[in-house]
Amino acid sequence: MVRSAVTVCVRTRPTLQFAQDNITVDTEANSVDVKVMRSKSQGYVNNQQEAWSFSCDKVLHNAPQDEVFARLARPMVDSAVEGYNGSVMVYGQTGAGKTFTMTGATDNYRHRGIIPRAIAHLFKTIEAKPALAFTVRISYLELYNEHMYDLLAPVTGRVVPGAGGTGTFGGGPVGSAPDLTIVEDSAGNTHVRGLSHVVATSEEEALNLLFEGDTNRIVGSHSLNKASSRSHTIFTLHVESRSRVESTEKVLTSKLNLVDLAGSERVKKTDSTGVTLQEAKYINQSLTFLEQVVVALGDRRSHIPYRQTKLTNVLKDSIGGNCKTLMIANIWPEASQLEETISTLRFAQRMMRVSNEPTINVQYDLAALCKKYEADIRELKEELAMHDALSNRAHIVYDPYTDQERYELNKQVKAYLTGELDELPVINIRHIRETFAQFRVILNNVEASALKKLRDHYGTSAPPADAPSALDVKSMVATGGGVGELDSDGFHLGEFADDAKPVNSDALKRRPSGKVARHKAPRKKRLASERGRKEMRAGHGDHDSGDGGRGGDEADGEPDGRSRRRSRASGRTTPKGMSPLGNKAKKKKKKRTTSSMGREAGGHDPPSTSKGHPRGHDLSRTPSAAHLPGGGAAGDADRARSPSRGGDDLEGGSVVADHETPDGGRGPSAGGRPGNASAASAASGYGGGGGGGDGSRPSSSHAFRPSREDAFSEFKHTAGAEIAGILEENKRVYHEKKRLLREAGLSVNGAKAAIDVLRAKLNALRESRVGAPPAVAPSALPGAHDAAASSEPVEVIDEDEYQVLVELQEAKATYREAFEAYKAAKADVSYLDRHVTECRQRLLADFDEWFMASFGHLPLKPAASASELLEPNQDVLDDGEKWDLQQTQRIAKEDPDAVAFYTARMNVQRKVFASQQQHSASRRIRR
Ligand SMILES: Nc1ncnc2c1ncn2[C@@H]1O[C@H](COP(=O)(O)OP(=O)(O)OP(=O)(O)O)[C@@H](O)[C@H]1O
Ligand SMILES: [Mg+2]
Repeated sequence: MVRSAVTVCVRTRPTLQFAQDNITVDTEANSVDVKVMRSKSQGYVNNQQEAWSFSCDKVLHNAPQDEVFARLARPMVDSAVEGYNGSVMVYGQTGAGKTFTMTGATDNYRHRGIIPRAIAHLFKTIEAKPALAFTVRISYLELYNEHMYDLLAPVTGRVVPGAGGTGTFGGGPVGSAPDLTIVEDSAGNTHVRGLSHVVATSEEEALNLLFEGDTNRIVGSHSLNKASSRSHTIFTLHVESRSRVESTEKVLTSKLNLVDLAGSERVKKTDSTGVTLQEAKYINQSLTFLEQVVVALGDRRSHIPYRQTKLTNVLKDSIGGNCKTLMIANIWPEASQLEETISTLRFAQRMMRVSNEPTINVQYDLAALCKKYEADIRELKEELAMHDALSNRAHIVYDPYTDQERYELNKQVKAYLTGELDELPVINIRHIRETFAQFRVILNNVEASALKKLRDHYGTSAPPADAPSALDVKSMVATGGGVGELDSDGFHLGEFADDAKPVNSDALKRRPSGKVARHKAPRKKRLASERGRKEMRAGHGDHDSGDGGRGGDEADGEPDGRSRRRSRASGRTTPKGMSPLGNKAKKKKKKRTTSSMGREAGGHDPPSTSKGHPRGHDLSRTPSAAHLPGGGAAGDADRARSPSRGGDDLEGGSVVADHETPDGGRGPSAGGRPGNASAASAASGYGGGGGGGDGSRPSSSHAFRPSREDAFSEFKHTAGAEIAGILEENKRVYHEKKRLLREAGLSVNGAKAAIDVLRAKLNALRESRVGAPPAVAPSALPGAHDAAASSEPVEVIDEDEYQVLVELQEAKATYREAFEAYKAAKADVSYLDRHVTECRQRLLADFDEWFMASFGHLPLKPAASASELLEPNQDVLDDGEKWDLQQTQRIAKEDPDAVAFYTARMNVQRKVFASQQQHSASRRIRR
C-alpha cells in the first residue's frame, strides 16, 4: 500500500485589519510568514522567536467559497465516488471561519460551504454515471463535551444537560444518543455504532438532512464569535456503488467525512463564563489531544493516543488511517490574533508530517455472490456430464453416498486390508474421499476394541502407564503382530496371548509389576477409606464425603495412581477434623488459615494480594501503613513511586500537598485505628484484591479514603495508566529536546567566544598597525563590495589583519547557524513544555474525578435551568408557503442549481417553526 501525506491548506479570513506588518501571505510559494515585534516591556512578545515561515500544500488568501471547493474539496468527492474514504477537516481558532468554510452561509447560495457543494457535486456525478447504481447515506455526528449525539436521530425532546447552545429542534439541544459507540472494523474503518445512516436520493433530500442536523447543533455566543460552534461535528456521506451492467456482487463503498472542529479559544479573550467556559475547556482539551495524536504520528511513535478523547478515537481512520485526508487551517490574520495564528500554522505544519494509507473499499454482496456461484456450478455440472458421456463414464454418479453404498465400500476396504482384494478401484474424487473415510472408520474400531481388550485384561479404568498404548496397538495392527482378525463388524483384537511377541517389549517385560501396582492400589485405597470412616466414627468427621481416600481423589480430580498416592499421604498426615487434601491444596489451606488468623486479630477481612502488593499482614507491624490502601509493603512501594518522592516533580505538587486523609487523620499516626482503616480498605477493594474488578476504578466506599498520594500512585497504574504513559513519553521527549537545547546553547556560546577572541585579536592588530605600511585592501575580502564601485575611502590592511577578518567572518557565520539551531530547539522545548503541562493537568483532573467518584463526592456538572433549556430559538421565520413558492420561482429563474438549496432550507425552517409552536403550546398548557 502506498502512503500519502495529509494534504494541508491554509485559508485566511478576509479582514480590513489585515496585519500587514506581521503577516506575509505568498499564494505562489504557498507560504505564510509571520513576524512578531519585540515587546518593549517583555522583550519578545512570546519570549520565543521573532519570525516564522510556514509552508503548506496550498494557501488561499481571501478566496471565495467556490474556489475553496474547486481547488480543495472537489477531488475528495471524486475520490469517494471511486471508492476511497476521505476526510476534510477544518481547524483553527474560534472565529477564523471554519464553519463558514465547511457549511457556509445557509441564507446565501453563493456563500454556501464545502458540505452543500460536495452534496451537489456528488449527485451530479452520480447522474453522469448511469452504468452504476449508487446509494448515498448520510450521518451527522456531534461531539459535545465528550458526549456523542446523533444530529439526525428522530427528535424526542431529549435535552443535553448544561448545554449552552441554541439548538432549536425539539425545543433545546437534542439528539442525545447515549448508546453510540465507536468501533473499528477489520479494514481499519472507524464506525459509530448506533448512529443513523439516512438514505438520501437527491441533492434536496441530502440538504434537508444537513440543515436539519445544523439546527440541532449547539452554538454559543462569545466576544469573538456570535455564532461559535460549541461542538465538533462530522457530516458523513456514505457512498455505495455497484455496476448495473457487469457482475453486481462487487460493491464499492466509501465515506467522506466532513469535519467541522470547534475552535480553540483563549477564554480570557472570549470572556467565556459559565456553560460557555465549560464548553471551552472541553473543546481545548480535545484539540490538545488531537494535537498529541498528530505529534505522535509525526514522530512515528509506537503508541498513538487515539483513545484519550472521542474526537481522536472517531477520527482514527482519518489521521494516520486509510482515508485521503485534507486539512484546512483557517487563520484570522489580524494583529490581535497573532498568537492564535502562529499556533494554528504550527499545528498545520505538524499535520503535514502525518501520512495515511488510502485504499479502495471493495465489498462483495453475499446474496449476489451465491447466485453467481450457483450458476457457475450448474454450468460445470453440465460440462462434466458431457465429458463423462464422451469418455464412456456415463454410469458414474456424483451424488452423495447412501448408507448402503458406504457399507459396501467398507466391506471393500476390509477385503483390501486382509489381502482379499489386490486393488481398490478409483472412480472419482468423491469415491477416493469416501474410501479414506472408511479406512478411518475401520482404524477407529480397531483402536476402540484394542483398548477394551487392554482394560479387560488389566481390570482398571485405564491401563497402567507402562502398558502398551493405543498407538502401540495401532502399530501392531499395521504390522499384523499377533493380533487382528476380521469379523462382520470390522477388525477385532484376538486374545492377548502371554507368549505373544509385543511390539513394546520393554513395556511388556514390566507387565507383572503393573499387575502388582494394580492390586496394591485398591488395597491402600481401602485402608485410607477405612481410616477415614474410623475418624468419622470418632467424632472428627467434617469430611465432605465421609471417605478419606475418595475425598482425596476427588479433590485432585485425577483418577490415576498419582492421586491414589496422594490419597495415601493424606490418609497418614491429615490432622483431625481436616479433609485429606493434596499437597497443593494443603498449602492453600495453610495460607487461608494464616489469613484467617490475621483476620481474627484485626477484626476484619484481610485484603487479598494483588499485583504483588502484599497487604494486611504488615498492618500490625507498621502503624503508618494502616492508612494506606494497600497496607504496609504496597504502601511503601507506592510511596517510593509517588510524586512526592524520587524527584518526579512534573506531576507532584498538588498531589503531595493534599496528602492527608479526608477524615481528618493521617491513618493511625493521627489517631486512626489500623483495624478500621484496613477494614474499609478491604471493603472498598481499593488497590487490588477481590473488589478491584478490572482495576480501573476501586469500588466505591465513601466511608474510607486513602491518602491522595497513595491513591494517585494506584491511579497511575490503573485507570490513569494511559495518560500517565503519555506524560512519561512527553517528558522523555521534553528532556531530550532540553538536552539538545543545552548543546545548542553551548555551541552559540562557543561561537560567540570565538568571535570575541578574534575581535580582540583584530583590535590588537589594528592598534599595532598605526604607522605601518599598508598591505591589502579590505575590498578583497570574500563578499566585499568592489572597491571601485564603492564611494567609501579605501582602508588598507596587512596580511595578518586580513586573515583575522576572514576568520571573523567565518566565526560569525558559525554563530548565526548555531543561533538558528538554538532558536529552533528553544521553540521545540517550549512547545513540549506546554504539552507536558497540559498532560499533567489532564492527569490530575482525571485523577481528582476518579478519586471523588470512588471515595466520596461525585463531581456534579452544572445543569441548565428548565426555562433555559425550553427557551425556543428566536431566530425565525415568518415565511409562509406562498412566500416560499415565490422565492423558489425567483431562484429558479436566477439560478436553477440553487433551487434544491433554498427548498431544503425552507423545509427545515418550516419544521423548526412548527416544532417551536408545539413547544410554546405545551409550555402554555403546563402553566
Ligand atoms: N472567508 C470568509 N468570508 C466571509 N466571512 C467569513 C469568512 N470566514 C469567516 N467569516 C465570518 O466570520 C465569522 C466567524 O466565522 P465562523 O463561525 O465560521 O468561525 P469558526 O471558525 O467556525 O468559529 P468557532 O470555532 O467559534 O465556531 C462568521 O460571521 C463568518 O461569516
Ligand atoms: Mg464554527
